[in-house]
Amino acid sequence: MEALYGGALHRRVTIMDLAAAKKRGEKWAMLTSYEQMTAQIFDQAGIPVLLVGDSAGNNFLGYENTIPVTIDEMLPMVRAVVGASTSSMVIADLPFGSYESSPELALSTSTRFFKEAGAMGVKIEGAHIETIEKLVASGIPVMGHVGLTPQALHQLSGYRVQGRTDGDVILDAAVAIEKAGAFAVVLELVPAELATRITNALTIPTIGIGAGPECDAQVLVWTDLMGITQNPPKLAKAYRNLRAEMADAAAEFAADVRTGNFPGPEQTFN
Ligand code: KIV
Repeated sequence: MEALYGGALHRRVTIMDLAAAKKRGEKWAMLTSYEQMTAQIFDQAGIPVLLVGDSAGNNFLGYENTIPVTIDEMLPMVRAVVGASTSSMVIADLPFGSYESSPELALSTSTRFFKEAGAMGVKIEGAHIETIEKLVASGIPVMGHVGLTPQALHQLSGYRVQGRTDGDVILDAAVAIEKAGAFAVVLELVPAELATRITNALTIPTIGIGAGPECDAQVLVWTDLMGITQNPPKLAKAYRNLRAEMADAAAEFAADVRTGNFPGPEQTFN
């Protein structure tokens, strides 16, 4: 089996590849992407899984949180990320209100992401066991998501670490999600010790965000990774300071325009 990580595959990553990576103890990274440019860059950088997360709400669409995000807003993003990538598996996050009321609603929403945008799997927040069973039986790979589930922000009284006192509830949910047929599960904002217990209890990969180093994979929101987000969450690490770079470039351009240095001869046509 080829290595998952590092852009070595010349085809799309599959859920079988992710299962094999867990078996051989190979860790991998997932990033969010909401449009063509980052999808192309991250795909070429060898990121095996791209998540078109509903974090687009507060990182792309200008909302305060993920709750207002709609299917119609997500579909073109998923289509763009699929179209701009060749090796990464692309997962569509089902937005709030698009799947909870019944397995049938979840299936019809997921079907839209598959047929209209080319998604290769969907992510669902919470332990919607019957829904996961229905989707998997219909040929739709499902990524679970437990711990802090941002769509339940108000129910959880904010972005708080989950499972400090009731870790077994989260462990049981993750086990049930695996049993229902999910191929992976995101663990968000849970104590590292609990994430380790869940990772050891599951045969499917765990994908951590604010869940310590023992998860099988890690995910970051791309704007956090690149240092673009203002007031990033504690769980994120900025590997670059693109916010400053971009602000400098914009200011330089504006100054060049004011002084007449842009456009120069290279950008001028006779
Ligand atoms: O929407 C999102 O980006 C997510 C990840 C942070 C897991 O759910």
